[in-house]
Amino acid sequence: MQTAATIADLHRTISQWRQVDERIALVPTMGNLHAGHLQLVEVAKQYASRVVASIFVNPMQFSDGSGGDFARYPRTFGLDREKLEACGVDLLFFPTQEEMYPAGLKNVARVEVPGISDILCGKFRPGHFVGVATVVAKFFNMVQPDVAIFGEKDFQQLLVIRRFTAELCFPIEIIGIPTVREANGLAMSSRNQYLSDEERVRASLLLQVLDAAKNQLMSADGDIAHVESTAVECLRVGGFRPEYFSVRRAGDLQLASSVDKDLVILVAAWLGEARLIDNVQLQRG
Ligand code: PAJ
Repeated sequence: MQTAATIADLHRTISQWRQVDERIALVPTMGNLHAGHLQLVEVAKQYASRVVASIFVNPMQFSDGSGGDFARYPRTFGLDREKLEACGVDLLFFPTQEEMYPAGLKNVARVEVPGISDILCGKFRPGHFVGVATVVAKFFNMVQPDVAIFGEKDFQQLLVIRRFTAELCFPIEIIGIPTVREANGLAMSSRNQYLSDEERVRASLLLQVLDAAKNQLMSADGDIAHVESTAVECLRVGGFRPEYFSVRRAGDLQLASSVDKDLVILVAAWLGEARLIDNVQLQRG
């Protein structure tokens, strides 16, 4: 596996590949890799002859900039590098903050997708999706991949990325892959390590509540507002502090009504020190 810490080094390898018409896939990450990330790499290998993975903990998408959540985000570079190499990644790009934001974060040019960035997670984490869209757009321009792979676990993020990719005419195919889970149903996440052993067991309730809501919505009498309030109550009783539990249209995350067929149920809830997000999709007949 090759490695590059600078854009110049990255370009040297990418331009060699381009000369021989390699097809390039990009898997952007913030490191602390788990089986979900590695699944993105597996899918990337099916779509391209060369796979670039990036590791960069992006300060711009943390609302506290350089403070708490950003500072405590788990960084495990040595292990991550071994995992990516074992998975068959061709090039690991791990830029510094100075390389990504040479003039700092203040007044940096940004990519904004209004509307969808301001609801759900965006409402509780103002500026988060501008940070995500900006850094992903920068990676797209640096790597110029044919295809980029993202997880459906971060469903809203995936839609924000699909939107700016299409609207800013990046010639890149965006692939979303299903959420990889622990045996008890908990979606794998770097933030799961903030959970105690007991909380980790209890965290399986999140998917159970999503599945129960899905089953209620599939039955004819599944009233959306009732399903949402029952789920929030269930999570509270289970020791969670829910931020939102919401049934939305899968295509644009607008509020769903009884006529909408393609739906997604999204949840964000705190358990102890960890903010967990998850979602399930459903089609109503
Ligand atoms: P990070 O949380 O490291 O996730 C990197 C990629 O892995 C994202 O596409 C995410 O959706 C996917 N992923 C995480 N957990 C997953 C799981 N359990 N199953 C499947 N895929 C999973 O998301 C980010 O980083 C950042 O916002 C980033 C896009 C890299 C921009 O900084």
